Amino acid sequence: MKNFNKIVNHLITTGFVYPSSEIYGGLSNSWDYGPLGVELKQNIKKLWWQKFVHESTLNVGIDSAILMNPKVWEATGHVTSFNDPLIDCKSCKMRFRADELIKNQFPNVNVDKMTNDELSDFVKNNDVVCPNCGKHNFTDIRQFNMMFKTHIGVTDDSKSVVYLRPETAQGVFVNFKNVQRTTRKKLPFGICNVGKSFRNEITPGNFIFRTREFEQMECEFFVKPEDDLKWYDYWKKYCMDFLLNELSILKDNLRFRDHEKEELAFYSKATCDIEYNFPFGWGEIWGIADRTDYDLKKHMEYSKESLEYVDAVTNQKIIPYVIEPSVGLDRLMLMSLVDSYDEETLENGETRIVMHLDKKIAPIKIAILPLSKQLSEKALSIYKQLVKKYNCQFDESGSIGKRYRRQDSIGTPFCVTVDFDTLNDDCVTIRFRDDMSQKRIKVEEISKYID
Ligand code: GAP
Repeated sequence: MKNFNKIVNHLITTGFVYPSSEIYGGLSNSWDYGPLGVELKQNIKKLWWQKFVHESTLNVGIDSAILMNPKVWEATGHVTSFNDPLIDCKSCKMRFRADELIKNQFPNVNVDKMTNDELSDFVKNNDVVCPNCGKHNFTDIRQFNMMFKTHIGVTDDSKSVVYLRPETAQGVFVNFKNVQRTTRKKLPFGICNVGKSFRNEITPGNFIFRTREFEQMECEFFVKPEDDLKWYDYWKKYCMDFLLNELSILKDNLRFRDHEKEELAFYSKATCDIEYNFPFGWGEIWGIADRTDYDLKKHMEYSKESLEYVDAVTNQKIIPYVIEPSVGLDRLMLMSLVDSYDEETLENGETRIVMHLDKKIAPIKIAILPLSKQLSEKALSIYKQLVKKYNCQFDESGSIGKRYRRQDSIGTPFCVTVDFDTLNDDCVTIRFRDDMSQKRIKVEEISKYID
């Protein structure tokens, strides 16, 4: 089992992630992405967009606003029901989600089926203790709305209240008509939306796994109602294939978890999570849900606008069903980083930290390393050529062994070493991250070779 704290420490010291506003003591569970993290994030996002928007002839993309008309969230039920059951320990003042508190101490109890009253009774009547102070002294359960509220304009009155969106999905539903009209797409078709979402989570944690500000990549796929389950299966497979084939995640660390009937959101016909086996346990990465016609119907009811689709052949009006594959970008990052992290013992007894990140998402693709500073000019000319196509790093400081280790530890798949022979034969040595083998090739062939 990999040591999660060690990985987190490695990611912070190498510049993947920093604690947010650290010079002011940070802000709990808020993280910034450093120079390597931002590259990894953009690479994963680009890959997702490539697979879900460009390569899928059925889908198009949009980029909707974070601040929306608050009626959107009334229509969806978020204002009244996007709640978590909050409970406080009266002795030490620690705050918990009641369902999680019970689940952690009584793993066989199915908290997903329990109402708030049942959760409350369970806490009272069983030996549920505070994980912080060990006492059994809890408040009643209160409902806690997870949406962040803010105000538009200069006044603080309730009329100007707006919410930071808790999901990107609704930006798609409210634009369904616009997109359908302007693209003339016929069913089935999907609309993809990527961006920040915000939830005032009671118990954020596990580094970037659960935070209050995170990025989602969602696709709302509109189908004829009778075709929903066919497309549900299609997108389940598509998402799993993305993890296996594009991000090269180890198969044994992934599983589908179908939601039981009692666990399903009341509007959902079927939901499945793809989970990853993190060092802290299995965690949800991707949710694939059959949302039926719930969202479009609700927006029709509240906006009084028709969101019906008219079949061009039959002229029949229908409200499409929706299959939604929804994934958190930060979780994809954490999964890729954990999955690729490795500590190898070398023949000389030294430990090599290596991130076997898929080449497509590695933050830096090629490191250009002159063996001596006298070779910097030649090495820089190679760097300037390659950087037009690949994100490269130029590094001339320290022994070559140390420089290789540095690149291994941040997942750079290729090192290009420039030595004194390069000046005569115009060849360089390419060194491979995973097996540390080396190959000599012509400078003019590097780019083609890496392609
Ligand atoms: N539109 C459906 C929706 O938002 P969700 O299961 O609440 O469904 C989808 O969220 C995905 O967003 C999750 O599978 C997870 O990857 C990510 N996600 C949700 N809450 C998160 C949080 N607090 N921090 C990081 N990622 C989160």
